[in-house]
Amino acid sequence: MIVFFLGSHPEVSLAELRLVFGVKEVIRWLGIALFDLEGETVSKNFFKLGGTPRYGSVVGEFPKSTENVENALQSLLVKQLKNVQRKEYVLSLYGVRVDKRRFHKNLKDELSGVKYDGKFEEPQHTPAASAHVLLRGGHEFSAISHNETIYVVKTERVQDAKFWSIVDAERPARDMKIGMLPSKLARMMVNFTKTDDSGKIWDPFVGQGTIAMQSAMLGIPVYGTDKSLVSIENAKQNMLWLVKKGLVAQTTHKLFVEPIERAKLEKSITAIATEPFLGKPRFKPFANEFLAKREWREVSRLYGVLLQTASRFLRKGQRLIFVKPTFAFLAENGVRWYNPPLSTSTDAWKIPELVKDIGALLWVQRDNVVGREIVILEKN
Ligand SMILES: C[S@@+](CC[C@H](N)C(=O)[O-])C[C@H]1O[C@@H](n2cnc3c(N)ncnc32)[C@H](O)[C@@H]1O
Repeated sequence: MIVFFLGSHPEVSLAELRLVFGVKEVIRWLGIALFDLEGETVSKNFFKLGGTPRYGSVVGEFPKSTENVENALQSLLVKQLKNVQRKEYVLSLYGVRVDKRRFHKNLKDELSGVKYDGKFEEPQHTPAASAHVLLRGGHEFSAISHNETIYVVKTERVQDAKFWSIVDAERPARDMKIGMLPSKLARMMVNFTKTDDSGKIWDPFVGQGTIAMQSAMLGIPVYGTDKSLVSIENAKQNMLWLVKKGLVAQTTHKLFVEPIERAKLEKSITAIATEPFLGKPRFKPFANEFLAKREWREVSRLYGVLLQTASRFLRKGQRLIFVKPTFAFLAENGVRWYNPPLSTSTDAWKIPELVKDIGALLWVQRDNVVGREIVILEKN
Protein backbone atom coordinates (compact mmCIF):
# COMPACT_ATOMS: atom_id res chain seq x y z
CA MET A 1 0.00 0.00 0.00
CA ILE A 2 1.32 3.41 -0.96
CA VAL A 3 0.29 6.71 0.58
CA PHE A 4 0.54 9.86 -1.54
CA PHE A 5 0.57 13.30 0.09
CA LEU A 6 -1.33 15.33 -2.48
CA GLY A 7 0.00 18.83 -1.79
CA SER A 8 -1.51 22.24 -2.46
CA HIS A 9 -3.95 21.23 -5.24
CA PRO A 10 -5.14 17.80 -4.13
CA GLU A 11 -7.76 17.23 -6.88
CA VAL A 12 -5.27 17.92 -9.66
CA SER A 13 -2.61 15.70 -8.06
CA LEU A 14 -5.15 12.92 -7.57
CA ALA A 15 -6.18 13.09 -11.24
CA GLU A 16 -2.51 12.81 -12.21
CA LEU A 17 -1.95 9.76 -10.00
CA ARG A 18 -5.02 7.99 -11.36
CA LEU A 19 -4.06 8.69 -14.96
CA VAL A 20 -0.37 7.82 -14.57
CA PHE A 21 -0.96 4.58 -12.64
CA GLY A 22 -4.23 3.71 -14.35
CA VAL A 23 -6.12 2.94 -11.12
CA LYS A 24 -8.24 4.71 -8.54
CA GLU A 25 -7.18 5.12 -4.93
CA VAL A 26 -8.52 2.79 -2.26
CA ILE A 27 -9.08 5.59 0.26
CA ARG A 28 -8.74 9.35 0.12
CA TRP A 29 -8.89 11.73 3.04
CA LEU A 30 -7.28 14.95 4.33
CA GLY A 31 -5.23 15.59 1.19
CA ILE A 32 -3.88 12.05 1.36
CA ALA A 33 -4.63 9.14 -0.97
CA LEU A 34 -3.90 5.48 -0.39
CA PHE A 35 -3.31 3.40 -3.52
CA ASP A 36 -2.90 -0.35 -3.82
CA LEU A 37 0.33 -0.25 -5.86
CA GLU A 38 3.70 -1.97 -5.78
CA GLY A 39 6.53 0.12 -4.32
CA GLU A 40 8.70 -0.59 -7.35
CA THR A 41 6.11 0.72 -9.83
CA VAL A 42 5.80 3.93 -7.85
CA SER A 43 9.51 4.49 -7.33
CA LYS A 44 10.11 4.05 -11.09
CA ASN A 45 7.46 6.63 -11.99
CA PHE A 46 7.61 9.17 -9.17
CA PHE A 47 10.04 11.48 -11.02
CA LYS A 48 7.43 11.91 -13.77
CA LEU A 49 4.82 13.45 -11.48
CA GLY A 50 4.26 17.18 -11.22
CA GLY A 51 1.78 17.27 -8.40
CA THR A 52 2.62 14.98 -5.51
CA PRO A 53 5.20 16.41 -3.09
CA ARG A 54 5.96 13.07 -1.42
CA TYR A 55 4.89 9.49 -0.95
CA GLY A 56 5.52 6.69 1.48
CA SER A 57 4.72 3.07 2.14
CA VAL A 58 2.50 1.78 4.91
CA VAL A 59 4.77 0.00 7.40
CA GLY A 60 2.05 -0.87 9.88
CA GLU A 61 -1.41 -0.12 11.12
CA PHE A 62 -3.41 -0.59 14.30
CA PRO A 63 -6.94 0.17 15.51
CA LYS A 64 -7.60 3.66 16.79
CA SER A 65 -9.18 2.08 19.86
CA THR A 66 -5.78 0.65 20.90
CA GLU A 67 -5.41 1.43 24.58
CA ASN A 68 -1.93 2.89 24.34
CA VAL A 69 -1.42 4.46 20.92
CA GLU A 70 2.07 5.69 21.81
CA ASN A 71 3.21 2.16 22.72
CA ALA A 72 1.82 0.69 19.51
CA LEU A 73 3.57 3.40 17.51
CA GLN A 74 6.76 2.91 19.46
CA SER A 75 7.00 -0.79 18.71
CA LEU A 76 6.48 -0.11 14.98
CA LEU A 77 9.20 2.55 14.93
CA VAL A 78 11.62 0.36 16.87
CA LYS A 79 11.19 -2.31 14.18
CA GLN A 80 11.90 0.26 11.48
CA LEU A 81 14.88 1.93 13.13
CA LYS A 82 16.53 -1.09 14.72
CA ASN A 83 18.61 -2.10 11.71
CA VAL A 84 19.22 1.20 9.96
CA GLN A 85 22.53 3.00 9.97
CA ARG A 86 21.29 6.48 10.86
CA LYS A 87 18.75 6.29 13.61
CA GLU A 88 17.48 9.82 12.97
CA TYR A 89 13.82 10.39 12.40
CA VAL A 90 10.91 12.82 12.46
CA LEU A 91 7.30 12.03 13.18
CA SER A 92 4.41 13.76 11.40
CA LEU A 93 0.94 13.51 12.89
CA TYR A 94 -2.31 13.56 10.94
CA GLY A 95 -5.23 13.52 13.34
CA VAL A 96 -3.28 11.42 15.87
CA ARG A 97 -2.50 12.77 19.34
CA VAL A 98 0.96 11.93 20.61
CA ASP A 99 3.17 13.85 23.02
CA LYS A 100 6.22 13.77 20.74
CA ARG A 101 8.72 14.73 23.44
CA ARG A 102 7.58 11.94 25.77
CA PHE A 103 7.30 9.54 22.85
CA HIS A 104 10.88 10.23 21.82
CA LYS A 105 12.16 9.79 25.37
CA ASN A 106 10.52 6.37 25.64
CA LEU A 107 11.76 5.37 22.20
CA LYS A 108 15.32 6.38 23.16
CA ASP A 109 15.11 4.28 26.31
CA GLU A 110 14.24 1.23 24.21
CA LEU A 111 16.62 1.87 21.31
CA SER A 112 19.77 3.72 22.13
CA GLY A 113 21.29 6.20 19.69
CA VAL A 114 17.94 7.40 18.31
CA LYS A 115 17.81 11.11 17.45
CA TYR A 116 14.86 13.36 16.68
CA ASP A 117 15.72 15.36 13.57
CA GLY A 118 13.20 18.19 13.74
CA LYS A 119 11.07 20.32 16.00
CA PHE A 120 8.85 18.51 18.45
CA GLU A 121 6.22 21.24 18.18
CA GLU A 122 5.45 20.70 14.46
CA PRO A 123 2.54 18.33 13.96
CA GLN A 124 3.37 17.83 10.26
CA HIS A 125 6.46 18.44 8.23
CA THR A 126 6.55 20.47 5.05
CA PRO A 127 7.96 18.74 1.97
CA ALA A 128 11.14 20.84 2.38
CA ALA A 129 11.61 19.60 5.95
CA SER A 130 10.92 16.00 4.86
CA ALA A 131 13.52 16.35 2.09
CA HIS A 132 16.04 17.69 4.59
CA VAL A 133 15.61 14.67 6.86
CA LEU A 134 15.82 12.19 3.98
CA LEU A 135 18.89 13.87 2.48
CA ARG A 136 20.71 13.49 5.80
CA GLY A 137 20.02 9.77 5.65
CA GLY A 138 17.26 10.05 8.25
CA HIS A 139 13.68 8.84 8.14
CA GLU A 140 10.25 10.41 8.25
CA PHE A 141 7.28 8.57 9.69
CA SER A 142 3.68 9.75 9.57
CA ALA A 143 0.92 8.50 11.83
CA ILE A 144 -2.35 9.04 10.00
CA SER A 145 -5.77 8.51 11.46
CA HIS A 146 -8.62 7.39 9.21
CA ASN A 147 -11.95 6.04 10.41
CA GLU A 148 -11.08 3.31 12.93
CA THR A 149 -7.45 2.84 11.89
CA ILE A 150 -4.10 4.50 12.44
CA TYR A 151 -1.72 3.97 9.53
CA VAL A 152 2.01 4.36 10.02
CA VAL A 153 3.76 5.47 6.86
CA LYS A 154 7.46 5.71 6.08
CA THR A 155 8.29 8.46 3.55
CA GLU A 156 10.06 6.94 0.55
CA ARG A 157 10.68 9.88 -1.75
CA VAL A 158 10.17 13.64 -1.84
CA GLN A 159 9.71 15.81 -4.92
CA ASP A 160 12.87 17.58 -6.06
CA ALA A 161 11.94 21.18 -5.20
CA LYS A 162 15.25 22.53 -6.54
CA PHE A 163 14.62 21.04 -9.98
CA TRP A 164 11.20 22.70 -10.21
CA SER A 165 12.43 26.07 -9.10
CA ILE A 166 15.28 25.94 -11.66
CA VAL A 167 12.89 25.23 -14.54
CA ASP A 168 10.53 27.98 -13.46
CA ALA A 169 12.96 30.69 -12.45
CA GLU A 170 16.08 30.12 -14.54
CA ARG A 171 14.76 29.54 -18.04
CA PRO A 172 16.03 32.41 -20.14
CA ALA A 173 12.84 33.53 -21.89
CA ARG A 174 10.03 34.54 -19.63
CA ASP A 175 7.13 36.89 -20.19
CA MET A 176 5.31 37.70 -17.00
CA LYS A 177 2.87 39.93 -18.90
CA ILE A 178 1.22 37.11 -20.80
CA GLY A 179 1.37 34.82 -17.80
CA MET A 180 3.24 31.57 -17.73
CA LEU A 181 1.92 28.25 -16.70
CA PRO A 182 3.66 26.88 -13.58
CA SER A 183 5.97 24.10 -14.78
CA LYS A 184 4.53 21.54 -12.35
CA LEU A 185 1.08 22.13 -13.78
CA ALA A 186 2.43 21.85 -17.32
CA ARG A 187 3.99 18.50 -16.32
CA MET A 188 0.63 17.31 -15.02
CA MET A 189 -1.10 18.38 -18.23
CA VAL A 190 1.41 16.36 -20.24
CA ASN A 191 0.76 13.38 -17.97
CA PHE A 192 -3.01 13.82 -18.43
CA THR A 193 -2.53 13.23 -22.19
CA LYS A 194 -1.22 9.71 -21.47
CA THR A 195 1.35 10.12 -24.26
CA ASP A 196 4.75 8.43 -24.44
CA ASP A 197 7.70 8.80 -26.78
CA SER A 198 5.78 7.07 -29.55
CA GLY A 199 3.23 9.92 -29.66
CA LYS A 200 3.39 13.64 -30.31
CA ILE A 201 1.83 16.50 -28.37
CA TRP A 202 0.66 19.71 -30.01
CA ASP A 203 0.43 23.00 -28.12
CA PRO A 204 -1.35 25.50 -30.42
CA PHE A 205 -0.84 28.41 -27.95
CA VAL A 206 2.73 27.49 -27.11
CA GLY A 207 3.74 30.90 -25.63
CA GLN A 208 7.15 30.61 -23.95
CA GLY A 209 7.00 26.84 -24.32
CA THR A 210 6.23 25.67 -20.78
CA ILE A 211 4.24 22.63 -21.96
CA ALA A 212 6.72 21.92 -24.77
CA MET A 213 9.57 21.90 -22.23
CA GLN A 214 7.77 19.42 -20.01
CA SER A 215 6.97 17.15 -22.96
CA ALA A 216 10.61 17.24 -23.98
CA MET A 217 11.75 16.34 -20.48
CA LEU A 218 9.58 13.23 -20.61
CA GLY A 219 11.05 12.34 -24.00
CA ILE A 220 7.84 13.13 -25.88
CA PRO A 221 8.10 14.79 -29.30
CA VAL A 222 6.29 18.13 -29.38
CA TYR A 223 4.90 20.45 -31.95
CA GLY A 224 4.23 24.05 -30.89
CA THR A 225 2.55 26.88 -32.71
CA ASP A 226 1.58 30.42 -31.74
CA LYS A 227 0.40 33.50 -33.59
CA SER A 228 3.22 35.56 -32.07
CA LEU A 229 6.75 35.45 -33.48
CA VAL A 230 8.18 36.69 -30.16
CA SER A 231 6.56 33.76 -28.35
CA ILE A 232 7.95 31.25 -30.84
CA GLU A 233 11.44 32.73 -30.53
CA ASN A 234 11.18 32.57 -26.74
CA ALA A 235 9.94 28.99 -26.82
CA LYS A 236 12.88 28.00 -29.06
CA GLN A 237 15.34 29.68 -26.70
CA ASN A 238 13.84 27.84 -23.71
CA MET A 239 14.04 24.48 -25.47
CA LEU A 240 17.72 25.05 -26.29
CA TRP A 241 18.37 26.00 -22.67
CA LEU A 242 16.96 22.66 -21.47
CA VAL A 243 19.70 20.85 -23.35
CA LYS A 244 22.43 23.35 -22.40
CA LYS A 245 21.46 23.08 -18.76
CA GLY A 246 21.66 19.30 -19.01
CA LEU A 247 18.03 18.83 -18.00
CA VAL A 248 17.49 16.67 -21.05
CA ALA A 249 19.92 15.09 -23.52
CA GLN A 250 17.99 16.13 -26.61
CA THR A 251 14.58 17.39 -27.65
CA THR A 252 12.39 16.49 -30.60
CA HIS A 253 10.41 19.59 -31.41
CA LYS A 254 9.05 21.78 -34.15
CA LEU A 255 8.03 25.35 -33.29
CA PHE A 256 6.63 27.88 -35.72
CA VAL A 257 4.29 30.86 -36.12
CA GLU A 258 0.74 29.89 -37.04
CA PRO A 259 -2.54 31.18 -35.63
CA ILE A 260 -4.81 28.35 -34.60
CA GLU A 261 -7.42 29.58 -37.06
CA ARG A 262 -5.07 28.57 -39.89
CA ALA A 263 -3.74 25.32 -38.42
CA LYS A 264 -3.14 22.66 -41.05
CA LEU A 265 -3.95 19.09 -40.25
CA GLU A 266 -0.89 17.34 -38.87
CA LYS A 267 -1.57 13.61 -38.86
CA SER A 268 1.19 12.61 -36.46
CA ILE A 269 -0.39 14.50 -33.52
CA THR A 270 -1.67 12.11 -30.85
CA ALA A 271 -2.74 14.63 -28.16
CA ILE A 272 -3.21 18.34 -27.55
CA ALA A 273 -2.18 20.11 -24.33
CA THR A 274 -2.49 23.87 -24.22
CA GLU A 275 -3.23 27.08 -22.39
CA PRO A 276 -5.08 29.58 -24.60
CA PHE A 277 -5.38 33.29 -23.86
CA LEU A 278 -6.86 33.70 -20.36
CA GLY A 279 -7.94 37.33 -20.78
CA LYS A 280 -6.07 40.58 -20.21
CA PRO A 281 -3.51 40.45 -17.40
CA ARG A 282 -5.09 41.70 -14.19
CA PHE A 283 -4.07 42.36 -10.64
CA LYS A 284 -7.43 43.06 -9.02
CA PRO A 285 -10.68 41.09 -9.00
CA PHE A 286 -13.43 42.22 -11.40
CA ALA A 287 -15.70 44.82 -9.78
CA ASN A 288 -18.71 42.51 -10.27
CA GLU A 289 -19.84 39.23 -11.80
CA PHE A 290 -21.20 40.93 -14.91
CA LEU A 291 -17.72 42.18 -15.87
CA ALA A 292 -16.19 38.73 -15.26
CA LYS A 293 -18.83 37.19 -17.55
CA ARG A 294 -18.16 39.85 -20.17
CA GLU A 295 -14.42 38.98 -20.14
CA TRP A 296 -15.26 35.31 -20.67
CA ARG A 297 -17.51 36.21 -23.64
CA GLU A 298 -14.51 37.96 -25.20
CA VAL A 299 -12.05 35.11 -24.79
CA SER A 300 -14.44 32.20 -25.26
CA ARG A 301 -14.28 32.48 -29.07
CA LEU A 302 -10.74 31.08 -28.99
CA TYR A 303 -11.97 28.13 -26.93
CA GLY A 304 -14.60 27.40 -29.57
CA VAL A 305 -11.89 27.39 -32.24
CA LEU A 306 -9.70 25.13 -30.07
CA LEU A 307 -12.50 22.58 -29.59
CA GLN A 308 -13.38 22.54 -33.28
CA THR A 309 -9.77 22.24 -34.41
CA ALA A 310 -9.00 19.54 -31.85
CA SER A 311 -12.00 17.58 -32.96
CA ARG A 312 -10.66 17.62 -36.54
CA PHE A 313 -7.10 16.70 -35.55
CA LEU A 314 -7.63 14.01 -32.93
CA ARG A 315 -8.88 10.48 -33.34
CA LYS A 316 -10.97 8.26 -31.03
CA GLY A 317 -9.44 7.86 -27.58
CA GLN A 318 -6.92 10.71 -28.02
CA ARG A 319 -6.98 13.55 -25.51
CA LEU A 320 -7.36 17.30 -25.45
CA ILE A 321 -6.11 18.94 -22.25
CA PHE A 322 -6.52 22.68 -21.80
CA VAL A 323 -6.59 25.46 -19.26
CA LYS A 324 -9.78 27.49 -18.90
CA PRO A 325 -9.76 30.70 -16.85
CA THR A 326 -11.75 31.30 -13.70
CA PHE A 327 -12.18 34.93 -12.63
CA ALA A 328 -12.28 36.48 -9.14
CA PHE A 329 -14.93 39.19 -8.71
CA LEU A 330 -16.12 41.34 -5.82
CA ALA A 331 -19.43 40.39 -4.25
CA GLU A 332 -21.25 41.70 -1.17
CA ASN A 333 -19.60 39.21 1.12
CA GLY A 334 -16.09 39.34 -0.27
CA VAL A 335 -14.32 37.82 -3.27
CA ARG A 336 -16.10 35.09 -5.25
CA TRP A 337 -15.12 33.14 -8.33
CA TYR A 338 -16.80 32.91 -11.71
CA ASN A 339 -16.00 29.59 -13.32
CA PRO A 340 -17.28 29.89 -16.89
CA PRO A 341 -19.34 27.02 -18.27
CA LEU A 342 -18.05 25.46 -21.46
CA SER A 343 -20.46 23.57 -23.61
CA THR A 344 -18.73 20.66 -25.27
CA SER A 345 -20.58 18.33 -27.56
CA THR A 346 -21.10 15.02 -25.80
CA ASP A 347 -21.06 13.36 -29.23
CA ALA A 348 -17.53 14.55 -29.84
CA TRP A 349 -15.99 14.39 -26.35
CA LYS A 350 -16.14 12.56 -23.05
CA ILE A 351 -14.36 12.94 -19.72
CA PRO A 352 -12.11 9.91 -19.05
CA GLU A 353 -13.82 7.49 -16.68
CA LEU A 354 -10.91 7.54 -14.20
CA VAL A 355 -11.29 11.24 -13.40
CA LYS A 356 -15.00 11.83 -13.94
CA ASP A 357 -15.92 11.81 -10.24
CA ILE A 358 -13.19 14.22 -9.12
CA GLY A 359 -15.03 17.32 -10.38
CA ALA A 360 -13.42 20.61 -11.46
CA LEU A 361 -9.61 20.50 -11.44
CA LEU A 362 -8.91 23.97 -10.12
CA TRP A 363 -5.47 25.51 -9.76
CA VAL A 364 -5.58 28.82 -7.91
CA GLN A 365 -2.54 30.17 -6.13
CA ARG A 366 -2.47 32.65 -3.29
CA ASP A 367 -3.25 36.22 -4.42
CA ASN A 368 -4.37 35.03 -7.90
CA VAL A 369 -7.29 36.93 -9.40
CA VAL A 370 -7.38 34.73 -12.47
CA GLY A 371 -7.33 31.05 -11.65
CA ARG A 372 -7.04 28.02 -13.88
CA GLU A 373 -9.29 25.04 -14.42
CA ILE A 374 -7.75 22.09 -16.22
CA VAL A 375 -10.16 20.38 -18.58
CA ILE A 376 -9.49 16.79 -19.68
CA LEU A 377 -11.44 15.55 -22.71
CA GLU A 378 -11.21 12.36 -24.70
CA LYS A 379 -12.34 12.11 -28.31
CA ASN A 380 -15.31 9.83 -28.88
C1 LIG B 1 -1.46 32.33 -21.97
S1 LIG B 1 -0.33 32.35 -23.28
C2 LIG B 1 0.34 30.74 -23.24
C3 LIG B 1 1.43 30.68 -22.26
C4 LIG B 1 2.14 29.36 -22.24
N1 LIG B 1 1.32 28.30 -21.69
C5 LIG B 1 3.44 29.48 -21.44
O1 LIG B 1 3.47 29.04 -20.27
O2 LIG B 1 4.38 30.08 -21.92
C6 LIG B 1 -1.36 32.37 -24.69
C7 LIG B 1 -0.62 32.40 -26.01
O3 LIG B 1 -1.62 32.30 -27.03
C8 LIG B 1 -1.18 33.02 -28.15
N2 LIG B 1 -2.37 33.28 -28.99
C9 LIG B 1 -3.41 34.11 -28.77
N3 LIG B 1 -4.30 34.02 -29.77
C10 LIG B 1 -3.84 33.07 -30.63
C11 LIG B 1 -4.33 32.51 -31.82
N4 LIG B 1 -5.46 32.92 -32.36
N5 LIG B 1 -3.61 31.53 -32.42
C12 LIG B 1 -2.43 31.11 -31.88
N6 LIG B 1 -1.90 31.64 -30.77
C13 LIG B 1 -2.60 32.60 -30.13
C14 LIG B 1 -0.50 34.25 -27.57
O4 LIG B 1 0.42 34.80 -28.48
C15 LIG B 1 0.16 33.67 -26.31
O5 LIG B 1 1.49 33.34 -26.58
